[in-house]
Amino acid sequence: MASHSNQPQSIHEFTVKDAKGNDVNLSTYKGKVLLIVNVASQCGLTNSNYTELTQLYEKYKNQGLEILAFPCNQFGSQEPGTNEEIQEFVCTRFKAEYPVFDKVEVNGDNAAPIYKYMKSVKGGLFGDNIKWNFSKFLVNKEGEVVDRYAPTTSPLSIEKDIKKLLEKA
Ligand SMILES: *[C@@H]1O[C@H](CO)[C@@H](O)[C@H](O)[C@H]1NC(C)=O
Ligand SMILES: *[C@@H]1O[C@H](CO)[C@@H](O)[C@H](O)[C@H]1NC(C)=O
Ligand SMILES: *[C@@H]1O[C@H](CO)[C@@H](O)[C@H](O)[C@H]1NC(C)=O
Repeated sequence: MASHSNQPQSIHEFTVKDAKGNDVNLSTYKGKVLLIVNVASQCGLTNSNYTELTQLYEKYKNQGLEILAFPCNQFGSQEPGTNEEIQEFVCTRFKAEYPVFDKVEVNGDNAAPIYKYMKSVKGGLFGDNIKWNFSKFLVNKEGEVVDRYAPTTSPLSIEKDIKKLLEKA
């Protein structure tokens, strides 16, 4: 095992769990532009963030965009959904083809390492903590976190930033 004393340089150094509990080495996303989003498994069916994320994905996946969704229920009520239920919910309601990972915490001591890392690189306007569902982190092809967007930022308004990163070789 490599020493953990060195600060990670990129998202690609992390391993996360998919909704079925299997390890996913994020180095498989080298060369992709990533939009990493925390979603609530019981968000309103009408929440436009889901539909807009799907629109972005369908438009840009062939150009190298991947959307990585991490279910997190640290906001509002805790609910019992299993990972399979979450997956099914996201997939059937929103036809999400992008990966939905294992449930994580994004704040506090038990926050997933990838979230601790992203927050350390890109603090929020009012402190590092994630404030609500649909906080968004934009990651370039080298795995560097280049931007962070508030939950109130609509996914479609990030389109121009995504395009810019996709156009970079
Ligand atoms: C992830 O994959 C890369 C490239 O194949 C490898 O160097 C790295 O050790 C892997 N990381 C883990 C935690 O398995
Ligand atoms: C955010 O998630 C919580 C559940 O964790 C839910 O109660 C709330 O309605 C969600 N908010 C939005 C705007 O989707
Ligand atoms: C989702 O996107 C809409 C705009 O499209 C925004 O108004 C809303 O606040 C966003 N966030 C949440 C948590 O619903």
